[in-house]
Amino acid sequence: MMRRIAVVPGSFDPVTLGHLDVIDRAAGLFDELHVLVVHNPDKSALLPISQRVSLLEQSIKEAGLPTNIVVASWSMGLLVDYCMDVGASVLVKGIRSQVDVAYETPMAIVNRNLAAVETVFLLPDPANAHVSSSLVRQVAGLGGDVSPYVPHAVAEYLERSRV
Ligand code: PNS
Repeated sequence: MMRRIAVVPGSFDPVTLGHLDVIDRAAGLFDELHVLVVHNPDKSALLPISQRVSLLEQSIKEAGLPTNIVVASWSMGLLVDYCMDVGASVLVKGIRSQVDVAYETPMAIVNRNLAAVETVFLLPDPANAHVSSSLVRQVAGLGGDVSPYVPHAVAEYLERSRV
């Protein structure tokens, strides 16, 4: 039987509890789930890609998420090229609000047109609906406590790297 493989792409700068919730539920829907750190040229980054991968790996382990999750990064071109490389036909994204729907819809259509890769949207736990990486970056940058919004490993890393 064909293995159902999906990709959860994102900047993960840094990974939040909202991301982990979506990753956890997506892992239950597919045989193999790739969590893919992708550089987004429209955003100015806080963490290097390798650090984001490492924090994702630590957070997934710490939270005891399923073992069918692979963490990787991609900077070689289109997201759908990675999907073709690993045999994934589905992208999974979390949708918190109408703003997310408006942001994600064109990307979903382009990815489907480019390579017949479908996008599945999951609704987050309402407890995480207000959590975003950009909010975390801002609060952390101004010296605030981000521990309610991010995995322990991320909170610890941001605390340690504070200058
Ligand atoms: O977490 P983000 O920043 O909202 O993630 C956006 C991301 C990285 C998934 C998006 O920018 C992306 O898919 N980049 C890959 C480049 C690509 O394939 N573009 C064409 C199709 S949208």
